[in-house]
Amino acid sequence: MSRAGKACVIGWPIEHSRSPLIHGFWLERHGIEGAYEKVAVAPEDLKDFLASLEAKGFRGANVTVPHKEAALALADEADETARAIGAANTLWLKDGRLMASNTDAYGFVTHLDDIVPGWHDAGHPACVLGAGGATRAVLKGLIDRGVSDIRLTNRTRERAEALAREFGPAITVHDWDDRDRALKGCGLLVNTTSLGMTGAPPLELDLSALRDDAIVADIVYAPLETDLLARARERGLRAVDGLGMLLHQAVPGFEKWFGVRPEVTEDLRSRIVADLEDS
Ligand code: ATR
Repeated sequence: MSRAGKACVIGWPIEHSRSPLIHGFWLERHGIEGAYEKVAVAPEDLKDFLASLEAKGFRGANVTVPHKEAALALADEADETARAIGAANTLWLKDGRLMASNTDAYGFVTHLDDIVPGWHDAGHPACVLGAGGATRAVLKGLIDRGVSDIRLTNRTRERAEALAREFGPAITVHDWDDRDRALKGCGLLVNTTSLGMTGAPPLELDLSALRDDAIVADIVYAPLETDLLARARERGLRAVDGLGMLLHQAVPGFEKWFGVRPEVTEDLRSRIVADLEDS
């Protein structure tokens, strides 16, 4: 089998995607004569684009905003994770059929495993802020790892309640205005809102009710050191940035398309950090 091949990332817009840098780094590292392209696909063109993926020479694709839900619906087959999250971020062709998965939950928990091995051994409650697409992946990751007490809070309470209905009894919903108190006794806090991102409003949150050995994770990675993470470190807590999730979620796709399981290394991380700092 030839090791050369092509994959892509599709979105609308797609200009700011870091996926080509990540996969390009791995292609070079493994000496694979493949390519990973960035393709802007308008929502009305998604169906035709996916139908012609093979004819265009692609072995598969990553999918980003706003196509993740539609890609799941258009796939011939989707795994349990993609169905539970309700969105696909990784597609590949198998015997002409379009297969779909979602590797964001894997990316999130694998990065946590890397930074804080055994992070859930003590079994303390977790608090998750937000109720968007990224929240769904984080909840799926936590629940699959056996986290059984997840306090979910979101500005629009109804969205959090809908997620609690869908993801089951591990989740209890707390008012956004009560978020400081929801942290009481928690061993893990995850921000999945866009608050704290460059250009977005800050996340106002008092971390004092968290356990002294708590972990604070942010899925925001621009800036890499969010105000939330800086404040967590000041309090002596362990801080987990959002870039690791982005890097780890890319691993399963690369392996499907190019036949080699790549590693998330310091070299790769530095390369992406340098790009983030340039932009
Ligand atoms: P994604 O699918 O990428 O996660 P999203 O669905 O737009 O994006 O979700 C963004 C999250 O940030 C939501 O939880 C949103 O809260 P709402 O559900 O109330 O919109 C949250 N968010 C965005 N701006 C916010 C703000 N100013 N205050 C509080 N939460 C905010």
